[in-house]
Amino acid sequence: MTKPEFELSEQSYKYLFENANDAIWVHDMTGSIVAANKACARLTGYAPQELIGKNVREFLSREFLDFAKEVRRRLLAGETLEQPYEQRLLRKDGATRIMKMVTSLVVIDGEVKGVQHIARDITEEKQLQENIRLHSQLCIRAQERERERIALELHDDVAEPLLLVSQRLDMTLSSPRAKLPGSLRQKIEEFRILTNEAIERLRRCAQDLRPRILDDLGLAAALEWMADDVREHGIDGHFELLGTEQSLPDEVELLLLRIAQEALNNTRRHAEASSVWITMEFGSDKAILTIKDNGKGFKLPEKVEDLAGTGKLGLAGMQERAQLMKGYLRVGSEPGKGTTVIIEVPI
Ligand SMILES: Nc1ncnc2c1ncn2[C@@H]1O[C@H](COP(=O)(O)OP(=O)(O)O)[C@@H](O)[C@H]1O
Ligand SMILES: [Mg+2]
Repeated sequence: MTKPEFELSEQSYKYLFENANDAIWVHDMTGSIVAANKACARLTGYAPQELIGKNVREFLSREFLDFAKEVRRRLLAGETLEQPYEQRLLRKDGATRIMKMVTSLVVIDGEVKGVQHIARDITEEKQLQENIRLHSQLCIRAQERERERIALELHDDVAEPLLLVSQRLDMTLSSPRAKLPGSLRQKIEEFRILTNEAIERLRRCAQDLRPRILDDLGLAAALEWMADDVREHGIDGHFELLGTEQSLPDEVELLLLRIAQEALNNTRRHAEASSVWITMEFGSDKAILTIKDNGKGFKLPEKVEDLAGTGKLGLAGMQERAQLMKGYLRVGSEPGKGTTVIIEVPI
């Protein structure tokens, strides 16, 4: 190994410590601070000289004190601790800051003398993330309302009048007084069939936009209907209900149905699967929806949210919807081994 060209003097280290952008502080085993840098003063709101001798407990509320103790216990016991970890701190002015921090023991002559921390204030970053999440949730809700409105309009303003047309054609055909020549009769019959087909398509459209079946028959029936519906696309759909169906809040049921719809769309569009299984399980404290296909699978990105950046909004949207109901989404896929989407929601 080549010798470095120079070594940092103690003074240089001190300079680094003092002027680091991250807050750094060291306390002894009783929690009393023995060193803290300028960034630590900015983070806590105390002047640098005020910090020395202060006990770190003063910065922690009950819950976070317990967490800090746990961190220390693990370090002393040599157990693994995922670092950096998140922690909260109470400032001098009473405000709470969120930090991402790294903690290690100060060992002198083989003896643990204290604990040192390096912390970055991520409060604003967290706030921003939260705002984005809230915004996307508002968008999801607005989109649902809009879909409901369009579905209603399709039904009332388009399907209803068409239904009248179909009925009139029917009446014309069956009226004994109308002496229709055979060729005209055949034409009218054709119109009637075409009109009925259009009505059926509209119904499907409206059902996709706002699944009425959900309001009428509940989630399990709606999922079963969807499993049947994929047969139209040559995929063998199965549905299974495990446990006793419990009624969930309307919004939760709709969100679950949307996730299933999107997962089935993916199966249809990407999987080249021959079968898909939908399972809805009701436990004592959670409901679990699973959509599993036997298709070609795919290589999962590290985070589903990352897909949104490439214009793929399906899985990311499922994630958003799961979060909206305080649920948890898991996607499992491997090339050649099919894809499974699981959503757990607390009841
Ligand atoms: N069931 C599936 N089978 C195979 N590939 C899938 C499946 N679901 C998703 N994928 C893959 O993951 C990608 C992202 O899916 P998604 O976020 O829904 O976006 P999009 O469907 O608009 O492409 C898809 O483009 C596809 O490559
Ligand atoms: Mg998709």
